[in-house]
Amino acid sequence: MSAPENLSSPLGLLAELTHRCPLACPYCSNPLALDQRADELDAATWARVFREAAAMGVLQLHLSGGEPASRRDLIEIAAAARDAGLYTNLITSGLGIDAARLARLKQSGLDHVQLSLQDVDAETADRIAGYHGAHARKLAFSRMVVEQQLALTINVVVHRANISRVSALVETAAALGAGRVEIAHAQYYGWALRNRKALMPTPAQVAQAMQEMESIRPRYAGRLVIDMVVPDYYARRPKACMGGWARRSLNVTPSGRVLPCHAAETIPGLEFWSVRDRPLAEIWRDSPAFLAFRGTDWMREPCRSCDMREIDFGGCRCQALAIAGDAAATDPACELSPLHTIMRKLAESDASTDDDEYQYRGRSAAELAIAIPVR
Ligand code: SF4
Ligand code: FES
Repeated sequence: MSAPENLSSPLGLLAELTHRCPLACPYCSNPLALDQRADELDAATWARVFREAAAMGVLQLHLSGGEPASRRDLIEIAAAARDAGLYTNLITSGLGIDAARLARLKQSGLDHVQLSLQDVDAETADRIAGYHGAHARKLAFSRMVVEQQLALTINVVVHRANISRVSALVETAAALGAGRVEIAHAQYYGWALRNRKALMPTPAQVAQAMQEMESIRPRYAGRLVIDMVVPDYYARRPKACMGGWARRSLNVTPSGRVLPCHAAETIPGLEFWSVRDRPLAEIWRDSPAFLAFRGTDWMREPCRSCDMREIDFGGCRCQALAIAGDAAATDPACELSPLHTIMRKLAESDASTDDDEYQYRGRSAAELAIAIPVR
């Protein structure tokens, strides 16, 4: 398949600066095989990637990880983003950033902070994160963000252990001074797929959470944006994952591979090109991984003749692979997929177990030995 003549520009770039992280969340979106520190792109290469992204039309840059604060050169990287003219969002656990480092990040051009919380209850939050004391440090960090007048979004991944506290999570986000809260359900690829039995909420929990959200939303109108959608395993129609494969955004891994989505490497047989070897625009246009599912030509029935195909783009390729064993299948989250009922039964079966043992995200011996820099 060749790139279409009316190829759109990406709007967002997710820069995974490192896979190193002090936390070990069992739903981590990083791959099972983590990039090593020695393979990470240096700051000069990131600066070149940011300039290329801006020239392509990218507006928003998300500095992510792992924990991006694990990079000692994070300030240099943020300054390069500002020099490229990108709106820059830092996705962080807050660990490893004190008030002085945050102030320097702001001076360097950081526009926005997205802080993850695991729960409102410190003990449960720390158990989910696999890090004693993380929750208290996150709350302290959120206060610094607001004091320094940086825009704050609170991000919470919900699952069986915390979904019953969505209202309290929203109240906490509002009390911390966030302008937005994103309640995201765990996405079951990679680490979360391994932990699906321990993470999957019950249908009753999901229904209760959705109802609570609708009832509290009016209370926060005009002061807190609340994002929450039905989780895929309990949905009737899929989401347009990534806004459509290779349509709106791209991810660059710590070592420079460019992916259409964070889980694309779970799909066997895709060829990913690297920013070490080629300009970003060439990768966006011609990389085999981007061409594989761009547009609608690759679709089979029922997507091929469906009126929704230019709206949801057949859902999520990585979920199709995880459930159907075929990345080109209709996302089983769609009720028109022959596997839709099976997916729902899988969810109900996993949710009915009392398995709450997490397999935490891997930590290499080298990673454990690295102290998180504070400045
Ligand atoms: Fe979307 Fe395909 Fe389902 Fe139609 S059949 S709603 S295009 S996933
Ligand atoms: Fe890969 Fe949805 S996460 S397409």
